[in-house]
Amino acid sequence: MASYDVIIIGAGPGGYVCAIRAAQLGKKVAIVEKRGAEGGKPRLGGTCLNVGCIPSKALLDTSERFFEARKHFAEHGIAVTPSIDVSQMMKRKVGVVDTLVGGISGLMRKHKVDILAGSGELLGPGKVRVTAADGSAAEHDASHVVLAMGSVPIELPFLKFDGDRIVSSDHAIAFPEVPKRLVVVGGGVIGLELGSVWSRLGSQVTVVEALPQICPFLDGDVAKAFQKTMEKQGLQFIFEAKVTGAVRQDHEVVLSGTAKDGSAQSWTADRVLVAVGRRPCIDGAGLEGAGVQLTERKRVKVDASFRTNLPGVWAIGDLVDGPMLAHKAEEEGVAVAELIAGQKAHVDHNLIPNVVYTEPEVASIGLTEADCTKRGMTVRVGRFPFLANGRARAAGATDGFVKIIADAKTDRVLGAAIIGQRAADLIAAIAAHMVYGGSSEDIARTCVAHPTHGEAVKEAALDCLGRVIHA
Ligand code: FAD
Ligand code: NAI
Repeated sequence: MASYDVIIIGAGPGGYVCAIRAAQLGKKVAIVEKRGAEGGKPRLGGTCLNVGCIPSKALLDTSERFFEARKHFAEHGIAVTPSIDVSQMMKRKVGVVDTLVGGISGLMRKHKVDILAGSGELLGPGKVRVTAADGSAAEHDASHVVLAMGSVPIELPFLKFDGDRIVSSDHAIAFPEVPKRLVVVGGGVIGLELGSVWSRLGSQVTVVEALPQICPFLDGDVAKAFQKTMEKQGLQFIFEAKVTGAVRQDHEVVLSGTAKDGSAQSWTADRVLVAVGRRPCIDGAGLEGAGVQLTERKRVKVDASFRTNLPGVWAIGDLVDGPMLAHKAEEEGVAVAELIAGQKAHVDHNLIPNVVYTEPEVASIGLTEADCTKRGMTVRVGRFPFLANGRARAAGATDGFVKIIADAKTDRVLGAAIIGQRAADLIAAIAAHMVYGGSSEDIARTCVAHPTHGEAVKEAALDCLGRVIHA
């Protein structure tokens, strides 16, 4: 039995960042992690580092280079005939992941955070049991317990994961070869990012989506433009379709379902990626027994300060409401550590940027135009196409546009979406204005270096004011 100020269950970006911040604030901290706990040295970093953000971006990077070399080098006068070595691509990915995972262990050591290897179970306020891989268990006391167990892929009852032919993202980041035909069930973020990876490497990718558009969190015009660029790259989309069953044959899977008009359909694939969302990881964590309240969607119920219904028990990250994003989990981890230390802290969920790391990237923040219409708000919308941006033209990356939504009366920026090269970095500049309640005029008055993609953001803001220059 050891006593701590704070025990955190789960060492993803929410948990490990919370641990570091709490340690910086002078707290005695332990973090519990079950991933890889068999060897006694668990793999920290959570979904994000091990099977999420980082491995997927490593593969996106490799496949983008391959695609560029195949499709675009010739127009620059560069002659190459590229081929892909999947095992080398995976080796590089594993190297990137392992370095970062090792780095988190180093950060824990630096901040004197104890790592408890095993599965954490909340026994009640201030009490945590950790069961190691060999079955031995130890109980620990803490003044505060932070639940940060993250999320896992949703499994459909008629498409059970087999880790080989019918898989979640956990395995689609590690296919041993490029599948000839890949069916992706779900046209959300994972479907498009990993669909892009395998499509760029030569797979024939079909995305079956239940709704009428990809990425339902985007405005219809942005989603449509996104869909078109993905189609240009070779992905095929089937909307308002349902997969209802699967038969696994030797080296392929035959999916059955219905099309938009209700007619029976079947799709044959070498591999099927099911990417229909993620669910909170509460299995075996003792929440029910301890009396932790959940929401209807089985996320841990918290107030605006991440407090659960139990005293001294907090919850953050994918486990609680809001977008399932690493940077959102990190912000919440910092906020909880500061609240535990008696400081003031707050996370504005409206200002969490969301990025799809395809090429072009798709980034958004704040309200969509549709959100504003639903709320009866009067807005001005400014747009600027990358086609009219000098730097984007020079780079041959003219797909996409910047869209800024501002309140018609106050000019305050309410939201933005960018589809285009470097959108992930460009949205940060808009976020910085929004944090301080900035207006489209504030963005329009900011001097931006020429020639940069950032000029498209300035021009979209100018368009909100009816003063666009280059379009
Ligand atoms: P997690 O990262 O899920 O970490 C929770 C940890 O808790 C896990 O390591 C788990 O093993 C551990 N755990 C669970 N239960 C217990 C228990 N009982 N005892 C001990 N340990 C336990 N987000 C982005 O912002 N950008 C991206 O580019 C991005 N790409 C992604 C790509 C993919 C393929 C996927 C799947 C996700 C991606 N995400 C991305 C989402 C991001 O990974 C998550 O939002 C983020 O990891 C959530 O952090 P977390 O700390 O809440 O939980
Ligand atoms: P998602 O919620 O982004 O998309 C799921 C899609 O599947 C939706 O379009 C939905 O309409 C569709 N769908 C649901 N049920 C279906 C069914 N039965 N048949 C066909 N379509 C169906 O979920 P996804 O892609 O699994 O990703 C999970 C989460 O991981 C994301 O919400 C995001 O928070 C995080 N993530 C973030 C990334 C990033 O920030 N770049 C990258 C990858 C994941």
